[in-house]
Amino acid sequence: MSTKNDVLTQLLNSADYISGQQLADKLCVSRAAVWKAVKALVREGYEIDAVTNKGYRLLNNDDLVSAQSIKLNLKKDIDVLYLSTVDSTNNYCKRLLAEGRQGAFLVAADRQTAGRGRQGKSFYSPAGTGIYFSLVIRPDTSLQNAVTATTAAAVAVCKAIEGLTDKKPKIKWVNDVYLDGKKICGILTEAITNFEEGTVDSVIVGIGINISTDDFPKDIEDAGSLNTNVSKSKLVAETVNELMNIAAGDYKSFIDYYRSHSLVIGEKIRFIQNGVVTPAKAVAIDETGGLEVELENGEHTVLRSGEISIRKM
Ligand code: BTN
Repeated sequence: MSTKNDVLTQLLNSADYISGQQLADKLCVSRAAVWKAVKALVREGYEIDAVTNKGYRLLNNDDLVSAQSIKLNLKKDIDVLYLSTVDSTNNYCKRLLAEGRQGAFLVAADRQTAGRGRQGKSFYSPAGTGIYFSLVIRPDTSLQNAVTATTAAAVAVCKAIEGLTDKKPKIKWVNDVYLDGKKICGILTEAITNFEEGTVDSVIVGIGINISTDDFPKDIEDAGSLNTNVSKSKLVAETVNELMNIAAGDYKSFIDYYRSHSLVIGEKIRFIQNGVVTPAKAVAIDETGGLEVELENGEHTVLRSGEISIRKM
């Protein structure tokens, strides 16, 4: 790690002022090197209060994300990469996996130039107003089943938002997160399989959260943003923490939470299967996250994947 990153980690870890000499001693560098690192951080946009005889203190930097600030809030030791711009964090993870990267890791970005959504759609990912990240999980966790990871990710995002803000998000089956009738988060889960062995090598859970985006392209109909003060680093880290909790915990409480936050139960919906649009009523979420619907002829069926829309009355 560079001295700049080391200084940032120390400042992030310290609620109070920390002197240049203390930093220099801790990091085994000169005070001049500390000063140079502080200046570089300020140039990058970090607000650092420098007071004679007291030292340095990081001021509120909720909007500034770094690998260190995410890692600091993670409960598990996961490798974190933070990029200011990337084509797609999911694609970046795939490239790292193809290069042989091992273990669980997280890639987050401030902007995606080719953010990907489900069903071949794109995901609008402008700079500065959202956070886009992908977590690679290994199949030794109970989240190896990509369908479960997909549902669990929506629960994790909602729990993180509820824990850090006063907002009350809802989940539109299967994993879109909504706030006040607008989609504020999309999730794209991809499994990397080993064809020869018929196993899942890794699962990439890609999550995009709109935090303050307000200039969505015209073709995006129902997008919205969280629109509240929240530390992006904490939001990413808490989402990952919640996802890891679900992986380690009992399935029942997670699916109960999912049900209690469902936007669709009791609603009239439309679902598309093989290009055919069918009207139905959403009745329940089953034990595996499937959506039980009642067709117009009174028959019940369970949807396992696909897209639904809520019929406006
Ligand atoms: C959807 O709503 O259709 C899913 C959107 C998923 C977007 C996230 S942003 C981070 C990750 N990288 C991508 O390219 N896509 C996912």
